[in-house]
Amino acid sequence: MKVLFVLGIVVASLFAEVVYAAGDLTDAQVQAMAQKNGCMACHGVGNKIVGPAYKDVAAKYKGDKGAESKLIQKVRNGGSGVWGSMAMPAHPEMNKKDIKTLVRWILTLS
Ligand code: HEC
Repeated sequence: MKVLFVLGIVVASLFAEVVYAAGDLTDAQVQAMAQKNGCMACHGVGNKIVGPAYKDVAAKYKGDKGAESKLIQKVRNGGSGVWGSMAMPAHPEMNKKDIKTLVRWILTLS
């Protein structure tokens, strides 16, 4: 009985998170998500670290309608060769919704 109760809370909070991620997050909330997932260790908003600055990514794909899905795949699977020889690791543990939220945010930066 107790186990079911705990399970219920877990499911409820997971559901709440999904609903939350689907809504409009503030800039600070998305940045916190990027921080939490380790993205900011390799990327700055305005400065290159190991990977390109997010503003440079946004500039590169400005007007490219296919960029969003391409970059979602790239973050999920990792890869190299677009910005140099350094590779981005894959992020198979991240859910697609979070990756999409991050990529959309990155593409709005300028
Ligand atoms: C260990 C370092 C590292 C981490 C962690 C990392 N990246 Fe990257 N990222 C890179 C590198 C290096 C590149 C350049 C890859 C290339 O040249 O193709 C890159 C490229 C990118 C690009 C542009 C891809 C392209 O093909 O133009 C996006 C968008 C991006 N990263 C987002 C993220 C997000 C979101 C996260 C967190 C979930 C993240 N990165 C975590 C190193 C990292």
